[in-house]
Amino acid sequence: MKSKKIREEKAPWFDGSRALKDFYSISNLYDYIMGYYEIRSNKKAIGLLNFFEGCEVLDIGVGTGLSLKEILKNLPKNSLLVGLDYCEAMLIRSKKRIDSYKKDNSVILIQSQADETKLENGSFDIIYSSFLLDLLSIEKRNSVLNEMKRLLKPDGVICICVMDIDVKNNFDNFLNDIYNFGYGRWNKIWQFFFKGYAPHCRPIRIMDNIKTENFEIINKQSSYVLVFPVSIYLVKPRKQP
Ligand SMILES: C[S@@+](CC[C@H](N)C(=O)[O-])C[C@H]1O[C@@H](n2cnc3c(N)ncnc32)[C@H](O)[C@@H]1O
Repeated sequence: MKSKKIREEKAPWFDGSRALKDFYSISNLYDYIMGYYEIRSNKKAIGLLNFFEGCEVLDIGVGTGLSLKEILKNLPKNSLLVGLDYCEAMLIRSKKRIDSYKKDNSVILIQSQADETKLENGSFDIIYSSFLLDLLSIEKRNSVLNEMKRLLKPDGVICICVMDIDVKNNFDNFLNDIYNFGYGRWNKIWQFFFKGYAPHCRPIRIMDNIKTENFEIINKQSSYVLVFPVSIYLVKPRKQP
């Protein structure tokens, strides 16, 4: 597959305090710059999940709550939805967005690093995360996936939605190349217009993380953010023999 040729762009400041500062300053504009373009992939990914009455769901990196709202629309009653983000300003926006969608479900929003939650082992049936892992370095992604593994119930499932280097066709490959070409170069322009913020997601080698963390892929689907390729993976930890 040609995708092997495409490099993964370095994440210049994503794991540090700079990224957090950026998300604080952009929270009120985030939907217009990124969020609304991510809805299509969020809807497709959430549509693949088998929610059941009383299930316990975690969404990591909730942003302004677009994915939370979609989950709530699909969540049967008596369920629990926990939304986590390290940026308080994003959580405040999430809270406003979902207030009218809670119905008969409990919703808890938590401010925390994705890979250092204080949540208990084996707490969730479904763990969802969209457009978070593709902000992070390979090491940080492993650490977040490891945390997800810790938090998942034995028969649980994890759904991740990312910009992905492992795409199916040559045209998507080409689009990834274009995105990468602009990634570093355009950041300065974005930063000028958007209070120092630049959209950080970029195509990543998520398959390397999936292998390192020993996940089994149950389902893989494609989607797009604007015209750029996105992959949705349903995974679960491989059972030890
Ligand atoms: C690109 S947004 C995606 C939002 C949402 N999932 C969506 O699809 O609309 C990423 C979110 O992850 C949060 N985030 C980034 N790095 C994080 C980390 N290390 N721990 C927790 N949250 C993080 C940011 O604050 C931001 O709200």
